[in-house]
Amino acid sequence: MDLAAFRALEPLCWRAPSAHNTQPWRLRYERWAITVGWDPADMLPAGDPSGRDLRLSLGAFVETCLIVAADAGLRLDWVADHDEHDRRVGRLRPARQPYRTPFRTSEVWDRRTDRGRFTGGPDADVLAAVDAVARRAGGGVRLVPGAGRLGALLRAADRQVYADPAVVAELRRWLRLDPGRPDYRADGLSDRCLGLSRPAAAGLRAALAAYPVLRPLGLARLLAAGDDPLARGGAVLALVAPPDLDAPGEVEFGRVLMRVWLTLHAAGLAAHPLSQLVDVAATRDVLGALLDVAPQRVVHVTRVGRPVAAAPRSARRVGGGGAGRRVAASGGPKCVSDNNAVLVVSRGAVTFGG
Ligand SMILES: Cc1cc2nc3c(=O)[nH]c(=O)nc-3n(C[C@H](O)[C@H](O)[C@H](O)COP(=O)(O)O)c2cc1C
Repeated sequence: MDLAAFRALEPLCWRAPSAHNTQPWRLRYERWAITVGWDPADMLPAGDPSGRDLRLSLGAFVETCLIVAADAGLRLDWVADHDEHDRRVGRLRPARQPYRTPFRTSEVWDRRTDRGRFTGGPDADVLAAVDAVARRAGGGVRLVPGAGRLGALLRAADRQVYADPAVVAELRRWLRLDPGRPDYRADGLSDRCLGLSRPAAAGLRAALAAYPVLRPLGLARLLAAGDDPLARGGAVLALVAPPDLDAPGEVEFGRVLMRVWLTLHAAGLAAHPLSQLVDVAATRDVLGALLDVAPQRVVHVTRVGRPVAAAPRSARRVGGGGAGRRVAASGGPKCVSDNNAVLVVSRGAVTFGG
């Protein structure tokens, strides 16, 4: 029964974050469980050749499913069962009790990646809270020291990443620069979410058409809305995993990542990931040295701070995406999506209206 009821919650679960907003997860409803797998069409073989970000994204989705189900009163838990051949990471299955979590569906709905300006970074209490979240899974969250050096590191990482034509081709596939196209409201990275003005989006389109004539750093600057993201404020945090994290461990750490982001969100802070610092071996090595940990243990790096303005909501393939807004409601959060679907969520029930 709880499995069937879960179907109605899917649009909320799809609010989970994923690299390039590819939404790689797929659900298979079976008699006794819902298998969580992935679609290879939504992988990033050039930008994420090891599949680390795929697995972090799948873990973030699993955690989101558990939170949303628990908030609706559904009793589901998670059994990891990683199988590359079957392209699955595990199963959601009926449980005696709802999943225990401090987070609510309203937080899942409201959280968003914010690439804009931040007024300040996390204070000591917030840092301790996110570190505690990761410590419970054998890892930690660390403030990356050496702010002066990070700008140069980021430029070095960008230069290397965008020098690879396969990475640029992949990025082009997931960029959404034309609001007139239907996929603008389905997935990928829109100009609005990247903080690009209309002229900047047109410039990026032209630059992509001219690639590889354009120098890689020029492309990075256009993508970073013209300036250095680190100049937009906040602090840089690293998610450190236990040594020798295997593929199922990365999925588990995606769950940790989601809990870290929701902890930040609950404290009024937002995250802007800077995955290129981890993707490029040389910059990951420097991060490892700065943090005094083995570089392989640094699985995610993100700029964190208090947003100056609300970031746009990113698109989703399920449940309407785009600039959804939350409206006042009694008895639970009520969300309005771009296509004017209304989702009312309260313990035990989700209803959709026009
Ligand atoms: C594992 C992972 C890696 C990510 N890396 C980056 C990144 O390097 N740069 C960036 O701007 N956003 C990054 N993101 C954020 C995604 O682009 C974002 O989650 C997605 O577009 C959906 O938007 P939302 O988080 O606002 O829901 C990453 C997200 C995840 C889960």
